[in-house]
Amino acid sequence: MLLAQLLAQYQPQAVLNFAAESHVDRSIHGPEDFIQTNVVGTMRLLQSVRAYWQGQDEAARAAFRFLHVSTDEVYGSLSPTDPAFTEHNKLEPNSPYSASKAASDHLVRAWHHTYGLPVLTTNCSNNYGPLHFPEKLIPLLIVNALAGKPLPAYGDGLQVCDWLYAKDHCSAIRRVLASGRVGELYNVGGWNEKPNIEIVHTVCALLDEMRPKADGTPYQSQITYVTDRPGHDRRYAIDASKIERELGWKPAETFETGIRKTVQWYLDNPDWVAHVQSGAYRDWVQTQYADTP
Ligand code: DAU
Repeated sequence: MLLAQLLAQYQPQAVLNFAAESHVDRSIHGPEDFIQTNVVGTMRLLQSVRAYWQGQDEAARAAFRFLHVSTDEVYGSLSPTDPAFTEHNKLEPNSPYSASKAASDHLVRAWHHTYGLPVLTTNCSNNYGPLHFPEKLIPLLIVNALAGKPLPAYGDGLQVCDWLYAKDHCSAIRRVLASGRVGELYNVGGWNEKPNIEIVHTVCALLDEMRPKADGTPYQSQITYVTDRPGHDRRYAIDASKIERELGWKPAETFETGIRKTVQWYLDNPDWVAHVQSGAYRDWVQTQYADTP
């Protein structure tokens, strides 16, 4: 009802679905919210948008877009020698989170094929940057390092992710919205595959340089190997050549420039960090890292 009212009031030319429960570890502790938000929520959004879209005149219907923001995790896990994920990979999600996102990707596809809704889907790799909630690896490392707390690497720390600066993800979404072909998927990534432990060392080295510890010890002395995430995917890698070839999109940041900006932002914004670490965040850290020494 609220969605129908908002759509009628604002008459958007496009709807972008960024809404999601996004944290894999939380989905392992409690899958229900993920099904509700990512699956049922997407279905409800699609239904409201479809009703709105069908009520538009022909020109508005032709110009309208529903852009669904998804993830590389729907494709599952790669071996060290597999080629990076293309848009032709099968969906083989392995966590409750990625299964819920894959389900929503299927819904979006179905609303296009069945009802003709003009949809676009983007599947992006790991994002990082300012304002990233410190339940995710990179902001967690920065805030824990500065607080003198353990830097938790799951398992052997050799899982590989493909990292993209969040602003570059935004520019990719804009490009797909403006010029993407209706009904198509576009993989978005930064060509930045790195093992987690390398990320941990990079963050430690930047902090050693930008905010050295008073006692002169390096931040890497805080690294702690902890129990692995159940069902942890071993490697993600995005082949972003379709979006580059068809739409001329490329990331502006390298990992080196993006991670430096990110660390600097957290150093400059302790009030934001303190604010988001209050209340429910503390309960989450207690649940997830209870066994960390
Ligand atoms: O690949 C795209 C996905 O990236 C998005 O779809 C998800 O919404 C987003 O949360 C992110 O998922 P990850 O599970 O990859 O992100 P996270 O920051 O939780 O973990 C990154 C890697 O670091 C992963 O291999 C698990 C590991 N990790 C994570 C945490 C929080 C650790 O080793 N220690 C930690 O404390």
